[in-house]
Amino acid sequence: MTSPRDAGLKLLREHALIAGNPVTGASRIAVDDPATGDVIGHVPDLGAAETERAITAAADAFPDWSRSDPHARAQILRDWAALVDENTDGLAALMALENGKPFAEAKGEVAYANGFLKWFAGEAERLLGETQDSPLGHLILTFRQAVGPCALITPWNFPAAMLTRKLGPAFAAGCTAVVKPASQTPFTAIALAELADRAGLPKGVLNVVTGDAATIGGVLTASPLIRKLSFTGSTPVGRKLAEQCAPTLKRVSMELGGAAPLIVFTDADLEHAAEETVKGKFRNAGQTCVCPNRVYVEALVAAEYARVLAEKVAALTVGGAFEDGVKVGPLIEDKALDKVEAHLAALKKDGAKVLTGGGRHERGGRFFQPTVTLGGDDALFREEETFGPLVPVFPFESEDEVVAKANDSPFGLASYLFTRDLDRAMRIGRRIEAGMCGVNTGLISTPVAPFGGVKQSGYGREGSVHGIDEYVDVKAVTLALK
Ligand code: SIN
Repeated sequence: MTSPRDAGLKLLREHALIAGNPVTGASRIAVDDPATGDVIGHVPDLGAAETERAITAAADAFPDWSRSDPHARAQILRDWAALVDENTDGLAALMALENGKPFAEAKGEVAYANGFLKWFAGEAERLLGETQDSPLGHLILTFRQAVGPCALITPWNFPAAMLTRKLGPAFAAGCTAVVKPASQTPFTAIALAELADRAGLPKGVLNVVTGDAATIGGVLTASPLIRKLSFTGSTPVGRKLAEQCAPTLKRVSMELGGAAPLIVFTDADLEHAAEETVKGKFRNAGQTCVCPNRVYVEALVAAEYARVLAEKVAALTVGGAFEDGVKVGPLIEDKALDKVEAHLAALKKDGAKVLTGGGRHERGGRFFQPTVTLGGDDALFREEETFGPLVPVFPFESEDEVVAKANDSPFGLASYLFTRDLDRAMRIGRRIEAGMCGVNTGLISTPVAPFGGVKQSGYGREGSVHGIDEYVDVKAVTLALK
């Protein structure tokens, strides 16, 4: 029987993809397994010339694809989704190898990713327009038409889901794409592209370029042929890309950093709140933009909540993706550990108590102990996301104080509230400056909910009925009727 690891390696392709053709380059980028540091393969280090070729391929494919029957596009998305379902173990294993997340969690991501293909297949069939009488006596018809060839730049933390969350709506709308996956995790994107090809996606509709992010991003953003950029990643990089898109006035959507507050009130079910905190925080070892970065607990119950949380966190098994029962994998690279360590040191300096964990894991390498602290200063955690397995708990006294703290951050992506008081949930849910708010849940990500932020967390929405709007222009045709 094939092991999951072998199923993953079977899908590993060491080439990029332009106009349906595999492309290899003279120089190569090594991709490693974060659990061991061992190189699992290489991808080509492509540059400006190949990126231009990919853009031309996407532009050449655009007229036919954008005018194709949306039902046919929906069918291709569904066929692609069926192949993704069939290859779940292989895709999950490949992702686990290059990203380090536990295999079971990677399978969950494949299902999540595939949800976007299935959802947007339906949206392709619902690209509805409107009719309206004009005061000039005309009839106005509106059409939602594909924006054009798109540049899609995706991160390493969700190598499958962040890709399909962009490609699903792009293809449903009739856009073509040049994808630049993160250099740490390119193989999942390439494998997905190969499955799309097998599902009958016409050549040139999807192109994948690997290589230096700044070079490729520079060419994609400068090109007048690219009409839209969608980026998921850090706020500083997003800001730079948005600047680079300004001269050609591209449509831009940005899913950037977060520093999510999670607030627990005295009336909450503390056991449940702690359980959900663990679910939200330790997905991908704390390396998600939406995970709680700072936990505020009403002073009366702060010690009790922190105790229950620490107990649950201490029980999380740390290890390699394919080991039994593992819940928390390694971090993506060495400098990620330095950041978690620096955040922990700042807390300790401010008088926080470490309740569990507290440093690098005894396994060494890129493993960090799942850590819970109580007390200290929250200022750093409003300004910077830790992106690692550290949960700082800060007591608070009043609703106004905690809402002010939650909002006193440059970011506004996710937020979480735990309370049994529905009035309070609605009141705070509306006051909180964030694109998303989970009430009594730590998990808010699904293809059917709008995903996106406010402030320095970016703009635009992915998933849900809104996701396709990022990939269409509204065209008005005015009919003078006799
Ligand atoms: C992210 O971390 O950027 C995305 C997380 C998600 O989709 O839940």
